[in-house]
Amino acid sequence: MWKQLLDNGRSAFNDHWPHSLLVPAAVGLGGALLCWKLHGRKIKSIELGEGWWGPGEKSHLHNDDTRVRPFVIEAAEADIKDLHDRLDNTRFFIPLEDSKFHYGFNSNHLKTVISYWRNQFDWHKQVKILNKYPHYQTTIEGLDVHFVHVKPPHLAPGQKACPLLMVHGWPGSFFEFYNIIPLLTEPGTHGLNPNIVFEIICPSIPGYGFSEAPHKKGFNASAAARIFYKLMLRLGFKEFYLQGGDWGSRITTLLSQMKPESVKGLHLNFVMLPTGGLGRLKSLIIGRFAPWLVGLTKEDVKQLYPYMEKNVYRLLLESGYMHIQATKPDTVGSALNDSPAGLAAYILEKFSTWTDNSFRDLEEGGLERKFSLDDLLTNVMIYWVTGSIASSMRLYKENFSRDFNRTPDTKIGVYVPTGIAAFPCELVHAPRVWAKQKFYKIVSYTYMPRGGHFAAFEEPGLLARDLQNFVSKVEKV
Ligand SMILES: *[C@@H]1O[C@H](CO)[C@@H](O)[C@H](O)[C@H]1NC(C)=O
Repeated sequence: MWKQLLDNGRSAFNDHWPHSLLVPAAVGLGGALLCWKLHGRKIKSIELGEGWWGPGEKSHLHNDDTRVRPFVIEAAEADIKDLHDRLDNTRFFIPLEDSKFHYGFNSNHLKTVISYWRNQFDWHKQVKILNKYPHYQTTIEGLDVHFVHVKPPHLAPGQKACPLLMVHGWPGSFFEFYNIIPLLTEPGTHGLNPNIVFEIICPSIPGYGFSEAPHKKGFNASAAARIFYKLMLRLGFKEFYLQGGDWGSRITTLLSQMKPESVKGLHLNFVMLPTGGLGRLKSLIIGRFAPWLVGLTKEDVKQLYPYMEKNVYRLLLESGYMHIQATKPDTVGSALNDSPAGLAAYILEKFSTWTDNSFRDLEEGGLERKFSLDDLLTNVMIYWVTGSIASSMRLYKENFSRDFNRTPDTKIGVYVPTGIAAFPCELVHAPRVWAKQKFYKIVSYTYMPRGGHFAAFEEPGLLARDLQNFVSKVEKV
């Protein structure tokens, strides 16, 4: 039947159009179609949705308190005393000889860390550092949402700061950004391009640190994205940049898909891609022998192969935590919320292995090669004093309960200008050619010279430079 209609149409068409006009018309039409395909990809977006996560029933009279309230972190004496008592009572065990970090956090080294935490770590001093930037809370969807908001101290006349929302992941916190904030807000004094200055907003994901934990089931990355979008609106930003790694990457990507018109650019140091099906498999197999045929670069090859060893086995070895957190987070949460030593081991093991996989071969997990114990324990303290480890782990359950390949965001791509910083020790590598299948407008893609999963924390200078480079490309376009 379709054929018949087509044939009828064609003969009617031929009857009415002289042949001399047909060729140019067809070429014109083809050109127009090509243009449409290349440039006019219609920007799709996903639903913003709605939610309310406060305790109990939402009363009709209840409205969020929309004020933005200054917030100060306090070091409570009672908390410190309780912490010290618990640390004093830690029950250590004897690790296997030579097990390094292969069985998890080495118990001998844990002794050293706990002794430092008990006797040298000064929470008062760290709280002063945390409070050097202004903190706030505001209520969104029934939750008190915490964030740090740093404005550039100096701007040249006529110069505008780029608003930038930076989102952390697990087991990190807003504190991961403390070393990069000065580089972005005062680039000129740190040897960076003085013409690109940022105004930074670093929120805590609800359930993490000083942001209230959702009281209802179902708080996923989409809900976090929507809450952060509302936060930016409340702060008066209609357009802004986004940056994220880990969950922060997922959340900022979703925000870009919900409100592409508000997002000037999305910068990621961790890229999650759908599994990619048969096409990906083909790319992997051909890429092993003829990478250029499938658009893989030398660096990609170095990161991807041998594939089983570097990706499949490694992921299996390192993703047990994910399975637990995506199924029964509250069970382990009970132990970790009760034992500071357990919490430190659980969190800092990730800062070891995710910074450099080979740190598992070291007795002390290489922790202090890249970070100071003060910084690491400050991040642990943010989970400890707020009792937020269990609620932080639940984010895995709320997201993995659905098929990851079939959430609404996988059906449409990302249309906002995107910058990707590929750090060599990241958990998974996303070659540009694969990333392009989801991110339609990659304006910068950089193979970073060093660094791992906690990029802002570990390599603030490299990340800041790449962000500036990305923004300079976006602003020129
Ligand atoms: C988050 O949950 C909402 C409500 O169930 C759902 O519509 C949305 O697709 C989910 N988002 C993701 C990324 O799974």
